[in-house]
Amino acid sequence: MIAIVLVGGEGTRLRPLTYALPKPMLPVVERPMIARVLEWLASHGVTTAVLSLGYQPDAFVDAFPDGSFAGVELRYAVEPEPLDTAGAIRFAARAAEVDSETLVVVNGDVLTDLDLRSLVELHGSHGGEATIALTAVEDPSAYGVVPTDDAGRVLAFIEKPRREDAPTNRVNAGTYILDPSVLERIAPDRRVSIEREIFPELVEAKSLYALDSPAYWLDTGTPERYLQAQLDILRGRRAAAALPACTARSEGVYLAPGASLEGEVGGCVFVGRDATVEAGALVRDAVVGAAAHVAAGARVRHCVLLPGAMVRPGALVEESVVGPSAIVGEGAAVTGGSIVGAAALVLDGARLDSARLPV
Ligand code: GDD
Ligand code: MG
Repeated sequence: MIAIVLVGGEGTRLRPLTYALPKPMLPVVERPMIARVLEWLASHGVTTAVLSLGYQPDAFVDAFPDGSFAGVELRYAVEPEPLDTAGAIRFAARAAEVDSETLVVVNGDVLTDLDLRSLVELHGSHGGEATIALTAVEDPSAYGVVPTDDAGRVLAFIEKPRREDAPTNRVNAGTYILDPSVLERIAPDRRVSIEREIFPELVEAKSLYALDSPAYWLDTGTPERYLQAQLDILRGRRAAAALPACTARSEGVYLAPGASLEGEVGGCVFVGRDATVEAGALVRDAVVGAAAHVAAGARVRHCVLLPGAMVRPGALVEESVVGPSAIVGEGAAVTGGSIVGAAALVLDGARLDSARLPV
């Protein structure tokens, strides 16, 4: 099976982290998101993945220098300008010369254990041109909302409706099987959204089907969900073996090789390779990235510290993400969904609440 992985977006909701690294290259418990996506595809029989690139393409090419990962052959299609989701699929399929195949297409910022094979199976049985996976969410307004009939035929595709207008909480899980005929429907050389243009057209043609999946599913595109993706792994909510090499000190508390954990811990914690949590620090429900440092008297709760981040004595980091090699100064407070960008400095005693640095 051949998959196209959409990874060309700018990751605006995760700025400023995504100035330094494109979203799918951000680590989720020490492993880039895209590596987790490729491992999932490999485990369901995908042998070739075409990465549909636009924003910072070199980061991907550099990450996989030998052109393969997890046994999957990688091909790269770099858009000259963003073509939106359908435009990107068409461009990548043509560039990689796979446009006469039935294709798997996935959004590269989704972490899931959903069963790709059952989606392929359904696709082969209904005679329509496309099949999409659905997942149930609490608030469908951030997603493509997809009502179906009892036979699984899609009745409408409503991208990001107001919450009160959503007819169901079953949403597009960002995993599709597309026949080559779908590519013919996509206009060349302009931006085309699969969600806003092509899926509604397929609904009209009665040619779009969907399959509900109860499997683990998460779109990591916002700070809250990027954090949740990591805590879900530590809490054992993923079916697949998702933890990197580490030892478990107690339930939910993991230490990578070279990690030093002297401080107090609560909830689920991962302390990365060569990272340090000093005595007198408190770390609760957090990922402390490789070589990161939490000093005595600091408190880190419900957070991700990316590799090399430093939290100085007496600082508080709560419900936030601290970027690679960033520094949270002595006695500073970073709270309320804040994001500190790569190598940024939060001055001693400064307060950052629901804020981004740099903005
Ligand atoms: N190559 C390329 N070019 N990729 C793109 C472009 C583009 O112009 N625009 C977006 N992408 C990629 C992003 O990098 C991401 O991996 C994927 O397409 C989806 O874009 P998001 O920006 O993450 O979309 P979303 O999360 O708001 O909504 C989409 O995903 C939801 C499920 O996760 C939609 O498909 C929704 O319908 C869906 O429910
Ligand atoms: Mg997304």
